[in-house]
Amino acid sequence: MNAEILIRYGHFLGILAIASSLVAEHLLIKPSLTRKEISRLATLDGIYGAGALLVLGCGLGMWLGGFKNADYYTQNPIFHTKVTLFVIMGILSIWPTVFFLKQRKGNAEEVVAVPKRIVMFLRMELLIVFIMPLLATLVARGVGLG
Ligand code: HEM
Repeated sequence: MNAEILIRYGHFLGILAIASSLVAEHLLIKPSLTRKEISRLATLDGIYGAGALLVLGCGLGMWLGGFKNADYYTQNPIFHTKVTLFVIMGILSIWPTVFFLKQRKGNAEEVVAVPKRIVMFLRMELLIVFIMPLLATLVARGVGLG
């Protein structure tokens, strides 16, 4: 197996980790949660973070690794849109992550209210994840290049 195949595989594994952890977080989150439940969400959020790093690392590898000319991506506005959405996703994920990490500590049975914006940010991240493969496919096919 050559480096390109491994990197592409890593990109897909990262995407699977991101999508599955976000769906699981979305299914488990409720208006109020015990600290024990929040701790489980924090674990899922860790999987999400590891997936995001894998996606980013492998994405950068494909972009700059010389498999296609880097200009092929750099000159495509759809690729810029994809990377920008990924950055927005990263920014949106800060609030849930900070909330889970702070609120998991303490009495495991204590109930904590979950701010509505945490659920809203998770939903926005999910929406972005489902748009990304379309943008990625367009870029891979050269759509968007002058
Ligand atoms: C959640 C975030 C992301 C998703 C869901 C995603 C999805 C995908 C998918 C499905 C492909 C395969 C396209 C195909 O072969 O038809 C792909 C390829 C690629 N992705 Fe991503 N990606 C994400 C983030 C990123 C980021 C952050 C970068 C750059 C830093 C990146 C760079 C690339 C590159 C360079 C390719 C190769 C395209 C080609 O074959 O020419 N991706 N991505």
